Amino acid sequence: MKSLIILGRQPALGIAELESLYGPDKVRFAGNQAAEVDVDPCLLTFSRLGGAVKFGKILTILDTTNWEQISDFLIKSGPEHSKSMPKGKMLLGISSYGHKTSNRQVQALAIEIKKAVKNTGRSVRVIPNNEPTLSSAQVFHGRLTSPNGWELLLVKDGSRTIIAQTVKVQNISAYSKRDQARPRRDTKVGMLPPKLAQIIINLSVGKLPPESIQSICEVPPDQPIPQTHFSDSLILDPFCGSGVIIQEAAIMGYDCTGTDLDERMVDFAKENLEWLSKASNKPISSKVRISLYQADARIYKWEQKPTFIASEAYLGPPLSNIRSQKDLKTTINNVNKIILEFLKNIGPQLQTGTRICLAVPAWQIKPGQFVHLPLLDSIGVIGYNRVSFKNVRSKDLIYYRQNQAVARELLVITKAKD
Ligand SMILES: C[S@@+](CC[C@H](N)C(=O)[O-])C[C@H]1O[C@@H](n2cnc3c(N)ncnc32)[C@H](O)[C@@H]1O
Repeated sequence: MKSLIILGRQPALGIAELESLYGPDKVRFAGNQAAEVDVDPCLLTFSRLGGAVKFGKILTILDTTNWEQISDFLIKSGPEHSKSMPKGKMLLGISSYGHKTSNRQVQALAIEIKKAVKNTGRSVRVIPNNEPTLSSAQVFHGRLTSPNGWELLLVKDGSRTIIAQTVKVQNISAYSKRDQARPRRDTKVGMLPPKLAQIIINLSVGKLPPESIQSICEVPPDQPIPQTHFSDSLILDPFCGSGVIIQEAAIMGYDCTGTDLDERMVDFAKENLEWLSKASNKPISSKVRISLYQADARIYKWEQKPTFIASEAYLGPPLSNIRSQKDLKTTINNVNKIILEFLKNIGPQLQTGTRICLAVPAWQIKPGQFVHLPLLDSIGVIGYNRVSFKNVRSKDLIYYRQNQAVARELLVITKAKD
């Protein structure tokens, strides 16, 4: 059975993450904003996907993209679907991806479905569309994934339309709590959003071992999903800063080592992890082992061989506005030297094939135009292979916002044979 994922603001990152975890043959773009994943919805580990906004089960696929035909179909199906719901008010929402529809057209369709369902004697509340798509906050607060909720995802996929129902939506309040409520943050070091940390980890670990995936459908709805522990995997973050990657990797169930040149950052990471381990919802399994200490990534010999490396490397000084390539010369050289020295130092300490995802800086010199780290051109020479993706080009794996001077390029590599 297939699943549908609505991808986040930068769909290339979301699809690369899915491809990494489930394999290139299981994932394909459905339109520009969604992915069809050939994975049983019960086995899709949605909460660890930083690049996914909504998770839907596919109800049907229509051989049309004509809005009137889609509307006719849904107005007929609405009353039938409502019969399978528990008694009480139905909560209805519609999100249209890729069709040339205005929010008013989408809203009008929701009202028509509401009328059809009302004729069967059930009351309906429609979540209003400010855009053709509902935001995750609207889906979350409108309880559209509750037993009485029905968010329809209408995804234009070439000449067809995928109709899916949202099963899960990203938990925005949990993300912002993990981001903003941490006791220690440092704006100078830069703030890695937890969602991006998840993407970095997912790109580093590669394909998930099937035995590690717990079927969420076997868990009774009133029970929490049991925590996972990957007992034979160790993730290393050699530039751990305040520990966002360690935090997210520990929540996923990986043992972690975090090191940083700056003792103060190591203390911050320790305090943050301590705070998280005390959180009432116990997000980290008691089996997870975490060690954090000071080390210079350019020279240090780590005691334990990591299974994966997931890290946001040194990005250079924060820049408040876009600079010219000429102005950036010294910064680029300094940062390049540090990351190059790290890769040369750690290479001999790794097993062949060890997978690494390193967020490295790319400097935006004009909107959408970047200067890349020079070492990216000689990655083979220093003993690594670049991982390529089926659905996206490596150069599209850049996380940035408009007018942001320092973007993060996600470099996914493996240790080559000596
Ligand atoms: C962009 S920050 C990483 C922030 C981190 N992701 C977090 O959650 O806070 C880069 C970090 O690299 C560290 N760093 C710089 N040079 C280093 C080196 N040679 N070895 C280890 N860490 C280094 C800095 O102290 C800084 O904390």
